[in-house]
Amino acid sequence: SGKPVVILGVFVADTAYRADRQPRMGETILGNSFKLGPGGKGSNQAVAAGKLGADITFLTRLGVDAFADMAKATWKDAGVKSAVIDTPQSYTGAAYIFIEETTGNNAIIVSPGAAMLISPTDIEANAGLIGSAGVFVTQVEQPIDAALRALEIARGAGVTTILNPAPAAKLPDRIYTLCDYVTPNETEAEELTGIKVASIDDARRAADSLLGKGVGSVIITLGEKGALLHTANRSDHVPVVSAGPVVETTGAGDAFNGGLAAALAKGVEPLQAVRFACAVAGISVTRPGTAPSMPTLQEVEALLARG
Ligand code: RIB
Ligand code: NA
Repeated sequence: SGKPVVILGVFVADTAYRADRQPRMGETILGNSFKLGPGGKGSNQAVAAGKLGADITFLTRLGVDAFADMAKATWKDAGVKSAVIDTPQSYTGAAYIFIEETTGNNAIIVSPGAAMLISPTDIEANAGLIGSAGVFVTQVEQPIDAALRALEIARGAGVTTILNPAPAAKLPDRIYTLCDYVTPNETEAEELTGIKVASIDDARRAADSLLGKGVGSVIITLGEKGALLHTANRSDHVPVVSAGPVVETTGAGDAFNGGLAAALAKGVEPLQAVRFACAVAGISVTRPGTAPSMPTLQEVEALLARG
């Protein structure tokens, strides 16, 4: 199972509505279907890593309510250990996910609830856990000051650090110097660099700009175009291996990051780890839901052997 992986982030209940279009303000429309399931970027990444057999611990805050029970059941099923700070004064959050029926594209509102209260002090209380990891991952769905403190502690302990800068946000300059890997998608890369990413060449320019900010390696995920692994010495484009028709792309970035962490924790070389992560994401998009669509190690190995 490799070295321990620790992920800091958010769990929310995903409430996914499929409809032909979004309602206009003041309008009510009928949807085609509804599904409730586990979500939240950090938790989805932890579930992906857990299903791939990683030794994974997820650090977060949850309310004390039915969605918290959903979180715990989800992690148990996926083999994810958790370090939860119970937060009865708030609630376990939820995400509104609109899925456009014809394209499978999505638009999301996420309200993290208790996870918005994750503080640098919480992180310091878990410094031992973070420092004992082989790989540490966070996103910026919870407060950025908590992500920053966790990256400082991980870096100080010699842990490999991955920052998935999602959802898109402006970040403090200091954060980049703490990251072995940053893994934006096209939109997030544009938010961070001001460079519009519509092609692989654009991605290379954006990645150069992020390297200039002090990141070790930049990985830009490019949707159906795969991913770019970009370092000072080389730049490799990894195409997607199709695993079947695309059903829902929500959570594909999380599948990628969970897969990347699991592979790096096993000592897999970065380029091979990116290939592995692309396969994890490639399978997840052929299934509905976010956390529920994460594949097992056998499924990923079968796809890589075929491609
Ligand atoms: O990355 C996908 C996730 O983002 C969803 O599960 C939703 O909860 C939002 O946080
Ligand atoms: Na999916």
